Amino acid sequence: MASNIFILPLLLFLSIFTCSTAKLGHQKETEMTVYYHEYSGSRNATLIEIPSPSTGPLNTTKFGLMMCTDDPITEKIEEGSVPIARGRGIYVISALDGSHAHMLVSVVFINGKYKGSTLEIQGSYALRERATEVAVVGGTGKFRLARGYATFEVLHTDSLRGYLLARSNMTVLHY
Ligand SMILES: *[C@@H]1O[C@H](CO)[C@@H](O)[C@H](O)[C@H]1NC(C)=O
Ligand SMILES: *[C@@H]1O[C@H](CO)[C@@H](O)[C@H](O)[C@H]1NC(C)=O
Ligand SMILES: *[C@@H]1O[C@H](CO)[C@@H](O)[C@H](O)[C@H]1NC(C)=O
Repeated sequence: MASNIFILPLLLFLSIFTCSTAKLGHQKETEMTVYYHEYSGSRNATLIEIPSPSTGPLNTTKFGLMMCTDDPITEKIEEGSVPIARGRGIYVISALDGSHAHMLVSVVFINGKYKGSTLEIQGSYALRERATEVAVVGGTGKFRLARGYATFEVLHTDSLRGYLLARSNMTVLHY
């Protein structure tokens, strides 16, 4: 009798587990490298400051500064190549010394085989490092239940044009 007390919940648990794996299908791993093209300080900016009540000159490493972004994301490195996604979200300078930004960005796929799906990127972005790593915390569509990580490296900046090119490698587990 005592053993039944344990076996029944175990059987229930196993059947629930079996049902749910059947519904979700197999877990897949997807790796991709994409490029973010970011423009600031011009009429066509894809990165702008969210105005704050504070006064004084703009300082992009100032604690508390908030920025809104809608960068084209491409598979090819060339500027102006067809975007597969947009990087839409916000950055908040979240370190007192201006060294890190909190990144909350949705990769919204607009072309190609992931069109209509999204990935959610969240983490502390180390602005002064050559490369930084943040988490992929979720997704929709083809990326349901996604989790993984994304690296970011700035490959090129052109301060005259306010242009920045960053490479992002993503590794994502999803169903
Ligand atoms: C903004 O975009 C338009 C259309 O693509 C382009 O003609 C113009 O040169 C751009 N302006 C700047 C300042 O980048
Ligand atoms: C910008 O903010 C950082 C961090 O608070 C500070 O160290 C730096 O001196 C500021 N730069 C200017 C030009 O005010
Ligand atoms: C991202 O991928 C490229 C191409 O595979 C590689 O050269 C680069 O080192 C990777 N970046 C990071 C930060 O791992």
